[in-house]
Amino acid sequence: MSQDYAVETQGLSLRFGQTLAVDALDLKIPRGSIYGFLGPNGSGKSTSIRMLTGLLKPSAGTAIVLGEHLPGAEEKLRLRIGYMTQKFSLYDNLSVQENLDFVARIYGIKRAHAKQRRDELIDLYELDPQRKQLAGSMSGGQKQRLALAAATIHAPELLFLDEPTSAVDPENRREFWERLFDLSDAGTTILVSTHYMDEAERCHQLAILDLGVKRADGTPQALMNAMNAWTIEISGDNLRALKATLEQEKEVVSAAQIGARLRVLIHKCSNTAEPLLWLQQRAGARELEMVRPNLEDVFVNCTGSRVTQSAHHVE
Ligand SMILES: Nc1ncnc2c1ncn2[C@@H]1O[C@H](COP(=O)(O)OP(=O)(O)OP(=O)(O)O)[C@@H](O)[C@H]1O
Ligand SMILES: [Mg+2]
Repeated sequence: MSQDYAVETQGLSLRFGQTLAVDALDLKIPRGSIYGFLGPNGSGKSTSIRMLTGLLKPSAGTAIVLGEHLPGAEEKLRLRIGYMTQKFSLYDNLSVQENLDFVARIYGIKRAHAKQRRDELIDLYELDPQRKQLAGSMSGGQKQRLALAAATIHAPELLFLDEPTSAVDPENRREFWERLFDLSDAGTTILVSTHYMDEAERCHQLAILDLGVKRADGTPQALMNAMNAWTIEISGDNLRALKATLEQEKEVVSAAQIGARLRVLIHKCSNTAEPLLWLQQRAGARELEMVRPNLEDVFVNCTGSRVTQSAHHVE
């Protein structure tokens, strides 16, 4: 294991009965980076995270987390990793301060230091006005800041965040990400799962998961550059009908209406060597424009039904 990676897995898999929730996952997460898991519901994000925290035992494959082999080093790792679960998992009937005191005790932080650390976190995450408020009565954004404070109370080297911003408005999400970059700058490695494209674009690197399989990984920019499809926008009349027609073509990965335009992904192949010409023949008098792909296009291209099953890594 190279010391450059906080997490390294090979063939990591977990089966629940008939469901292969995580299918031979290979990961390399550089230390100090923010690494994203982007995937639809049921793609295996939470299950992967739970294996990497040592809570679930893989049915196959290996995982090395902070230089320790899993399974086997769960207890050793407990104090070195932080985990913010998908669902708020603190005590609704304890106040902010009481929740943090309780978590500090679980991590065995000495009383004098615990108090100082608690106050530091209350200050950092701007929870002072809610200090005595019961956690259950707080807003989504406040709960999320408390959950992050609790997950980082023992200053973990590696932090797992499972859809941390699902109950948070865009402004609070942006602010939350500023805090993640602060943690990353201070050397913390962060693995964060998300459904949001804007969040995925902020990650240093990400893996796109679908049905337990990693479809692609790399930096957001590299994934966009390496996309094996053309992105073309069409404007004009009757886009609904055109969409239905285009979806019948095997070269078309997807066609989605975005406002007054139809955004079409066309598979790069010998038939589409001249993509604009190819599409113009089908779009008639409508106007076409080749546009730069975004991460959502990459995601659709990776998880769409017409995509090849193999994952590819791009530097
Ligand atoms: N304890 C379990 N028992 C049986 N099946 C499970 C269990 N946990 C997860 N699964 C199944 O494993 C698959 C992956 O689930 P997982 O929760 O990891 O997905 P996810 O990507 O986190 O989804 P979401 O975005 O909805 O949180 C799903 O098909 C789910 O039904
Ligand atoms: Mg999940």
